[in-house]
Amino acid sequence: VTEPDLAGRHVVVTAGGTREPLDPVRFLGNRSSGKQGYALARTAAARGARVTLIEAGTGLPDPAGVDIVRIGTAVQLREAVLKAAPDADVVVMAAAVADFRPRTYASGKIKKKDGQEPEPIVLVRNPDILAEISADRPRPGQVVVGFAAETDDVLANGRAKLARKGCDLLVVNEVGERKTFGSEENEAVVLGADGSETPVPYGPKEALAETVWDLVASRLG
Ligand code: C5P
Repeated sequence: VTEPDLAGRHVVVTAGGTREPLDPVRFLGNRSSGKQGYALARTAAARGARVTLIEAGTGLPDPAGVDIVRIGTAVQLREAVLKAAPDADVVVMAAAVADFRPRTYASGKIKKKDGQEPEPIVLVRNPDILAEISADRPRPGQVVVGFAAETDDVLANGRAKLARKGCDLLVVNEVGERKTFGSEENEAVVLGADGSETPVPYGPKEALAETVWDLVASRLG
């Protein structure tokens, strides 16, 4: 039996990977499936929360009882998060947000030209939504959770990232064969700004989601 310990709470979850268009048919993307974000949305709803799920290009079926906002780019994701956040008790940034976007967008398809090298793709930085939300706290007492996928020095990099972003909890995944991107399973350590460290053993993404909500609920007071 699931305890409705998030009843009366509004949680915002982002899921999937942003797509940064080059022209009407091409984009720069990433390997995020959105499954961890969807697991967070489903489990929060089961625990009684009102859930706003902001999704980027996942193609996953809509979870029941969840408000869905569909976006494409990091800039659109930022707008959707800033719109929803003032009313949210919790913001969980599970989406893989592109750090960079192409500087220019070609309104017509980019063509190959005989005997000519292609134009280089010039990138510019995207806004860091997690850092912005953590610094501004659109609602006092709001709990902000980030994710980090790391390949080496996972804990040290995670600690540094938690401090840099200023969030309350950071879920650190080690990118690997059977976990994280596209997989049904995950393994992670949840780092707290209070110095806490909660390892979550290899298992379904729902189990990691439940641990995140346990840690969030204890911080909501
Ligand atoms: O810096 P890095 O991309 O590793 O950080 C990952 C965390 O920051 C995730 O929670 C992601 O949703 C968030 N993020 C963001 N805006 C960006 C890049 C990442 O909110 N531009």
